[in-house]
Amino acid sequence: RQDATEEFKKYHPLDYVSDLPEGSIIGSINPDTLGKLREKKEVNAAPADSADTDKEIPHLSMCVSCPDFEVAARAVLPHKSIVYASTSANTGLSLKTNIDDWGRINFRPRVMRNVGDVDSRRSIFGHTSQYPFYISPMGTLGAIHPEAEPEMVRGAVRKGAHMVVSTASTKTSEQIMQAYVDEQTRLNNKSPTQLFYQYYMPVERKKAIELMHIVKKAGYKGIWITVDTPVLGKRTADRVLQAEEALAVGLGEEGTAEWEAGGENDFAPAMGGRVVSGQLSPHTTWEDLAWIRKEWEGPIVLKGIQTADDAKLAYEYGCDGILLSNHGGRQLHTAPSALMTLLEIRTYCPEVIGKLEIFLDGGLRDGSDVLKALCLGATAVGVGRPFMYALAAYGSQGVERCIDVLAEELTLGMRLLGVTALDQLKPEMVNATRLLNEMWRPESNNIIIKSRL
Ligand code: FNR
Repeated sequence: RQDATEEFKKYHPLDYVSDLPEGSIIGSINPDTLGKLREKKEVNAAPADSADTDKEIPHLSMCVSCPDFEVAARAVLPHKSIVYASTSANTGLSLKTNIDDWGRINFRPRVMRNVGDVDSRRSIFGHTSQYPFYISPMGTLGAIHPEAEPEMVRGAVRKGAHMVVSTASTKTSEQIMQAYVDEQTRLNNKSPTQLFYQYYMPVERKKAIELMHIVKKAGYKGIWITVDTPVLGKRTADRVLQAEEALAVGLGEEGTAEWEAGGENDFAPAMGGRVVSGQLSPHTTWEDLAWIRKEWEGPIVLKGIQTADDAKLAYEYGCDGILLSNHGGRQLHTAPSALMTLLEIRTYCPEVIGKLEIFLDGGLRDGSDVLKALCLGATAVGVGRPFMYALAAYGSQGVERCIDVLAEELTLGMRLLGVTALDQLKPEMVNATRLLNEMWRPESNNIIIKSRL
């Protein structure tokens, strides 16, 4: 046995302890009875909890594109945290496709259009920010930066970008909102930033409603219900790390009781550890939206829509928005990229465009990627890992820099494309033929497809 308090605090709010399931052993412990951590066996990998100290962190000004933040983060983060941030499902194909698909659409720029001044403001459910992108919800930021989510929030508020806060955060939703309020106060409430809440549905209805009330009271402006995670996907690198750690302390050889205890659903939404029972509900159905709507009066977005069929259902069930996403390639192996899903929606249920707010995320690494999504009808997009890496290496200053980098690429792209405001973006400003050729089509319709692009 060893004291794991410090490690626990990186991943979860301490009040999780008061909410452990029946049968958990809760009580005080005499520190003298704690044994020392058994010496780790040699494993063929960097020590999980130490950073690669040989590498130097580049000066912040050297980060001129999103991928630069990952290089910087790899110089500071312990191996375990890098694994957490970068891991993806199975062989990693979904993540790769997410990134690649943005490059498979080209622009059709117009010229001689007086692009002296450009306006990149966009509104999400009536809350206008300077940018058509927001910071995606990512759990367990305590494993990334000691100040965790509040530090990310400070960067967002200073630049006026919106952010969606994860249920799996290291700090409570109230603590995170307090950091937002404090930073706003420091700036005389001048920042347009708003916080939205990403909601993992707890199994128990009572807990699910309680959580919703806490979030509403705290002042979050909308909920993004994650629907692509009835169970956690196979995070391959996480599995390897867990196996290495178990072996290093002499636990969990395959075939032993410890190994058998770690079933598929026991992997936590937060990194590495075991799931806190009841955190993810595999039982959620469309019918749940009825009671959710009663408990939550604000905007509801379904995060993780991956087909036109479900986009249509979301509209019919009265949602306010959909987020086309495959969870950053961390859930279903070879799930479609958000761009592919958007093309499917344009083709098979274009009626939802303009009625629902449509968001995309996954693999966005350049402001011009954002423009492509907007040309095809997206309201705004979410960006995940680049902000996580920026936070890791430079704290809130890195977050600010990452916003600047994306914003500059975006406005530069607008000028070169020949537009001065986002509402001038049109589908004919991109050539999506390559992706359309690969788009799903019903079997009866697989010879000729009438594209609505
Ligand atoms: C995530 N994502 C995520 N989504 C969610 O609904 N709740 C969560 O707690 C998390 N946590 C999380 C942690 C980490 C480390 C990553 C990388 C991602 C998914 C996230 O919201 C978003 O869908 C993707 O990150 C978008 O892809 P990119 O921008 O990271 O490629």
